[in-house]
Amino acid sequence: MIKHDVVVIGGGLAGMRAAVEAAERGADVAIVSKMHPVRSHSGAAQGGINAALGNREDDAPENHAFDTAKGSDYLGDQDAIEAMCEDAPHQVIWLEHRGCIFSRLPDGRIAQRPFGGAGTPRTCYSADVTGLVMLHTLWEQLERFNVKVYEEYFCTALCVEDGVGTGVVAYNMRNGDLDLIVAKATIFATGGAGRMYLKTTNGYASTADGMGIAFKAGIPLMDMEFLQFHPTTLKENGVLMTEGARGEGAYLLNSLGERFMFKYAPNKGELASRDVVSRAEWTEILEGRGVDGCVLLDMRHLGREKILERLPQIRELALDATGKDALDSPIPILPGAHYTMGGIETDKWGCTRVPGVYAAGEAACVSVHGSNRLGGNSLLDTIVFGARAAKHAIEYIATTGEPKPSERTLKQERDRIAALLSRSGGTRAPKLRDEMNRAMSENVFIFRDGAGLQKAVDRLREVRHAFDREAYVMDKSKTFNTDLVGTLETDFLIDAAQCVAAGALARTESRGAQARTDYPDRDDANWIKHTLAWRNDGNDPRLDYSRKVTITKWEPQVRTY
Ligand code: FUM
Repeated sequence: MIKHDVVVIGGGLAGMRAAVEAAERGADVAIVSKMHPVRSHSGAAQGGINAALGNREDDAPENHAFDTAKGSDYLGDQDAIEAMCEDAPHQVIWLEHRGCIFSRLPDGRIAQRPFGGAGTPRTCYSADVTGLVMLHTLWEQLERFNVKVYEEYFCTALCVEDGVGTGVVAYNMRNGDLDLIVAKATIFATGGAGRMYLKTTNGYASTADGMGIAFKAGIPLMDMEFLQFHPTTLKENGVLMTEGARGEGAYLLNSLGERFMFKYAPNKGELASRDVVSRAEWTEILEGRGVDGCVLLDMRHLGREKILERLPQIRELALDATGKDALDSPIPILPGAHYTMGGIETDKWGCTRVPGVYAAGEAACVSVHGSNRLGGNSLLDTIVFGARAAKHAIEYIATTGEPKPSERTLKQERDRIAALLSRSGGTRAPKLRDEMNRAMSENVFIFRDGAGLQKAVDRLREVRHAFDREAYVMDKSKTFNTDLVGTLETDFLIDAAQCVAAGALARTESRGAQARTDYPDRDDANWIKHTLAWRNDGNDPRLDYSRKVTITKWEPQVRTY
């Protein structure tokens, strides 16, 4: 048995930020992660982190909060949005004081670039490798505080005793043992669920683990139907081409050579919010003005010096994948699954409904992003809410007694995994995952309708039943059994996908990233409310709408860019 006061599940930016905050406050904290923290998907975040730093007279946290509330299509909780935007400058300076190397203005201040849906340039960046630079900064802080990292431990279940979270059960991938990890406070920072889709910007590790664990433990997932499709991803492999490129002035072109975005967003053009740009691109492609199923991202006019200084990574990524050099050729791109706006329901301190259990970052739904996240707000979310969850957890553990080790959950997980491994035949996880990926990619994409969504719900129910009945792990070995881990990940992804499809079918309106061709209008009278999806033993998730959206300053308006 392993024991700590605070255990953070996930070693990406939200997880490391939470752990460093807890360590700075003197807590006994550990990270449990299925991979080395600096290999986390946070490292793929390119373009930057938003903060109204005060570099510009026309910007302040309130402007940032307004842009975020508007970007959310008025589904974000405005008290949480205000808290995030207020804290943003402090968090960026906190990072800077710990050695985070941001790109600079000639006078030495942190540089900021324009990003989609923002009224003013407020995205701080490190060229186009911002997530990676932040990840390494936080890793150094973990080392500084000697935070224990249980690396290559795959968390399988949450322990809840007498209604209180008491830690997790984790599978040690090195030797095949299941360990009980007891904690007074548990923070899930396990990232998103992009791997529900065939093509995604997300790393292979983004498999909804925390979401699935919380869901199975009876904690609801919120607003899962809102899945962000990033406008610029490579056709070949789904890899991200940062919005920072358009922030620096790159154009989007159709097969006629037109900068088509001004038809759809007369004021902002390529820098409208992501839902608007993705829909515009897809419309161009559907209406026959695509280029081999794509549109083009043209950076040539930015010039060699600017591309090499500010966008060196995407130039290389595009060159590797497509053979095209952005210095002298437009890059074919299309929208791809990028970010899970929904997640484990929390309040603005990261608290779930179970005392002692928290969530932060993409795994959580606070909700600050509502139905559409602004670019640059996800790195911010990880840092702000990682720190806030840890602050609350530290206060909580000061008032709570010793956690009860959940031998019951350990036994249940041992029996469950033994049963899975004892099966001598059935359907292997990659096949089930492929069916889920197809159901999502074909029916729960940028434009949706009732018939397609119903198809997805039905198909995913069959996949869920097939998984429960016949998921087959062929590899029976104990050391680095990636077949078993992949099967457990698939289980979590199916949970997440069922919540996305069910929520999208039930929500009979278009808002943010949910564009229903059969309900093309936003319906504020009936749908300014959050979707809660609850586990419903073997059946489709049970949906409820009891959580209201918090509106503080900004009443819903028509959203144009
Ligand atoms: O386009 C990007 O660089 C992605 C940023 C984000 O998702 O916030």
